[in-house]
Amino acid sequence: MQIDLTVNGNQTFIDVEPRLLLVHALRDSLNLTGTHVGCDTSSCGACTVLLDGVSVKSCTVFAVQASGHEVTTIEGIGTADSLHPMQEAFWTAHGLQCGYCTTGMIVSAVDLLKRNPDPSDDEIRAGLEGNLCRCTGYENIVKAVRAAGAAMRAGEARHSVNELMPIHPPTVEPPPSGEAIIPQQLQEAKV
Ligand code: FES
Ligand code: FES
Repeated sequence: MQIDLTVNGNQTFIDVEPRLLLVHALRDSLNLTGTHVGCDTSSCGACTVLLDGVSVKSCTVFAVQASGHEVTTIEGIGTADSLHPMQEAFWTAHGLQCGYCTTGMIVSAVDLLKRNPDPSDDEIRAGLEGNLCRCTGYENIVKAVRAAGAAMRAGEARHSVNELMPIHPPTVEPPPSGEAIIPQQLQEAKV
């Protein structure tokens, strides 16, 4: 059957089986692979998207249920040229390790700050309880959400990935091919 989804501001019509989950429609039909599948059992939150502005686990929603509604995925939260403050804060506060949970975590955190712009650490933890990080980097995730909240309350400008990625020119010439790079301290220790 055909459904009508507005995804990240773009109206789209796709044919789906009635049993297709929203997460699979987003990933497989629309190629929006930033929404992840971590469990398929409503436990991990890796599949979190906004449905009419409210965070939902897209593995618990049939695509047909989203017909006629607005979906925002991580791709619609910010771009490489204009990062959402939450994306920037996850970067600067090192709020991710493998990154598998990160997109869902960011979408949930964006929804949390909409409802509570200045949450305490306990409120951040409670607000993200539906999102699991198997790398267990929860401390920095809480710091990132706190930093994003401060940036948003201050109305700070958005930045691009390039602005956040300082270019470090190489400080040493690469050795002739085949030779290993030995750090200075080790070279001194060998003498
Ligand atoms: S994949 Fe949806 S909650 Fe884990
Ligand atoms: S950063 Fe690896 S699962 Fe969260």
